[in-house]
Amino acid sequence: MTATAIDGNALARKLREGFAGRVAALAAAGHRPGLAVVLVGEDPASQVYVRNKVNACEAAGMLSERITLPADVAPAELLAKVRALNADERIHGILVQLPLPPHIDETAILDAIAPDKDVDGFHPENVGALVQGRARFIPCTPLGVIRMLEEAGVNPAGQEAVIVGRSNIVGKPMALLLIERNATVTVCHSRTRDLALHTRRADILVVAAGRPRMITGDMIKPGAVVIDVGINRGPDGKLCGDVDFESCRAVAALITPVPGGVGPMTITMLLENTIAAAERRAGRVS
Ligand code: GUN
Repeated sequence: MTATAIDGNALARKLREGFAGRVAALAAAGHRPGLAVVLVGEDPASQVYVRNKVNACEAAGMLSERITLPADVAPAELLAKVRALNADERIHGILVQLPLPPHIDETAILDAIAPDKDVDGFHPENVGALVQGRARFIPCTPLGVIRMLEEAGVNPAGQEAVIVGRSNIVGKPMALLLIERNATVTVCHSRTRDLALHTRRADILVVAAGRPRMITGDMIKPGAVVIDVGINRGPDGKLCGDVDFESCRAVAALITPVPGGVGPMTITMLLENTIAAAERRAGRVS
C-alpha cells in the first residue's frame, strides 16, 4: 500500500478563502480582526513562525501587530506589554510565541493574557473549558489536526488513537479532542516503556515529540492514518518531521508530509480563532 498524502497547503488555502467574507463583514462594522504576536529574543525558528503568522494575517485582510522584545527583557516589561494588549480595543487575539527565555516564568505570562483574547487556548480558563467539553479557544495545532481528519473523512469514533508527545501545546489538547470524538486514546511520551507496542496498535497516530524521523514504517499498523506534527531541521539542512515519511508511506493509508502538512493548518486555525474572537467582541459591543 502507498499512503495518500494529505495536502495541508490546499486545505489551508480553501479554509482561508472561506474567511474572507467574515473578515470583510467585521471590517465593515468597524471590528477588523486584529492579532498581536509577541516575540522575545532571536530564536531563528520562532522568527520564521512569527513572520509566517504575521504574513498570513495580513493576507487575510486582518490587522497584525508584531512586538519584538530583546532576549533579556525584564519579566515586568513583558507583563506590562501583555496587559497593554489586553486593554487595546484594536486587538482581538494575543499570541506570545513560545518558548520564552529561561529567566521568564512562561506560566505567569500565559496566565496574564485575557482569556477572551487567548487565541492559543493556553490560559487555564480555556484549558479547563476544553477539558469539560465546552471549549472557547482550542489550541491551533490540535484543532488543525482535527480539521484535517474531518476533511479526509476520518471519523475517530471507536478508533484506537495513539499520540506520541504530552506537551500542553499539542499532545494533551489533542488527547482531549480525540476523546471528545469518541476515540480510545493512548498518550505516549519519553518514559513510555515500549513505544512501538503502542504505535503499532494505532488506527490514528499523531506524532508530536520533536525527534526527527523517530517513527519508522515498522512501527505503524497497515492502513493507519499518520499525522506528523514535528518540524525539525535535518543534518542536510532540510525540514523533516517526527515521522520517517518514505518508510511510513509504504504502510499507512493516509499521511501528512513535512513541510506542507500540519504547519499551514496551525496558522489557519490561529486566523480562525482570531476571527471568532473579533465576532464575539462585535456581538458584545453592537
Ligand atoms: N511555539 C510552538 N508552537 C506554538 C504555538 O502554537 N503557540 C505559541 N504561542 N508558541 C508556539
